[in-house]
Amino acid sequence: MCPTSIHASSSSNADDWSPTSWRKSSIRQIPTYPDEAALDTVIDQLSTFPPLVFAGEARDLKSKLADAVTGDAFLLQGGDCAESFAEFHPDKIRDTFRVLLQMAVVMTYAAKKPVIKVGRMAGQFAKPRSAPTETKDEVELTSYHGDIINGIDFSKKDRDPNPERMLQAYSQAASTLNLLRAFAQGGYADLNQVHRWNMDFVADSPQGARYQAMAENIGSALEFMRACGIDAESSPQLHKTSFFTSHEALLLRYEQAMTRIDSTSGDWYDTSAHLLWIGDRTRQLDSAHVEFLRGVKNPIGIKAGPSISPDELLRLIDILNPENEAGRLTVISRQGAGKVHEHLPKLLRAVKAEGRNVVWSCDPMHGNVIKAESGYKTRPFERIMQEVREFFEAHDAEGTIAGGIHVEMTGQDVTECIGGAHAIRDEDLADRYHTHCDPRLNASQSIELAFLIADQLKPS
Ligand code: TRP
Ligand code: MN
Repeated sequence: MCPTSIHASSSSNADDWSPTSWRKSSIRQIPTYPDEAALDTVIDQLSTFPPLVFAGEARDLKSKLADAVTGDAFLLQGGDCAESFAEFHPDKIRDTFRVLLQMAVVMTYAAKKPVIKVGRMAGQFAKPRSAPTETKDEVELTSYHGDIINGIDFSKKDRDPNPERMLQAYSQAASTLNLLRAFAQGGYADLNQVHRWNMDFVADSPQGARYQAMAENIGSALEFMRACGIDAESSPQLHKTSFFTSHEALLLRYEQAMTRIDSTSGDWYDTSAHLLWIGDRTRQLDSAHVEFLRGVKNPIGIKAGPSISPDELLRLIDILNPENEAGRLTVISRQGAGKVHEHLPKLLRAVKAEGRNVVWSCDPMHGNVIKAESGYKTRPFERIMQEVREFFEAHDAEGTIAGGIHVEMTGQDVTECIGGAHAIRDEDLADRYHTHCDPRLNASQSIELAFLIADQLKPS
């Protein structure tokens, strides 16, 4: 089963890769632009814009992820299913960032390990779709593929792919990232502050009593440290955090335009985000998406659903990480509650047997979408939690390492997923159902999930 020899050429032949080599491979999920010339003009322009992230930061993330391979760190990746132009607002960025920090504190305390914070933010604009077109009243238009490609309204004007949208996406990503950097470094991420938000959460949650003990323990740990003279002034690490960005690398023309040679290492980096992932729908061995990401040195994610076989996964790993570098690859498992034990263990076993270094992360969102009676697409909180539990159980049984979690969430008080301590019901979904795409955990559901994950993370 060892696929090493099959693709050994891909490592030695890294020189047959270029930022445009993907264009020779079969491409899926990207609609055709009606005006090729306009597309080329935009791409030329984007190629001259400053990189959004610096290669050194991507290397820093990779070395942190290497610790998640061995169980010495835990990955928390979260944010919107899709960012949108209409919902762009500083308060939304702030609130999502705040909730991710609140989750991170709880998980850091429980795991007694650093939590690597990665947003699905500042560039998560492009969406794969189950059908390329949508038909209404005998009018057939391109499906909505995310604001970086086309608009959501059912009109030809909106639905025709428009390259100018890439410029707006770049600009929105740049200003989002700028704010995130300021928050992470400028004092907003202060540990004592984040802890106070968690105490407010515990006080307000109907299930608060369940989380009280842990929140109080975190408080006493902070007080103890303060008494010992360890505070934000003496120890800047209490006052700051590092925060990374990620998105699905779907729109390859955009990603290509953002791909640059790093002058310090001479390597290619996709500077649109620190981490890029390949979706479950574009991860075929011969796909353009795999070809493109093979050549950039960023940390890479692969979504792996029930349809991937152990052999296919090993071949993908071989193409994307021929040197078996720890931290390069994160496999994001998304099976659906009740299906993890059927699909995941064989993948864990195969990767372990071949000695491949990967971070195993759990996406409990995408396998758990249901249509509620009201007609809304939703995800029951209970099933999300069940998939997380099954993920940890599978790793326990196989002697492998549960290294991270990948969630679709928002800092807003939306009603998109049913359940949680505030018991959102099907009837409530209509109240504040704001998502452009998949249903997200709201602020309190996200923090609750972190407390529940904390139970799994406690060192035994
Ligand atoms: N710098 C540490 C870290 O990022 C501790 C820390 C400061 C922290 N602020 C935080 C941890 C907010 C989680 C959330 O891990
Ligand atoms: Mn989604």
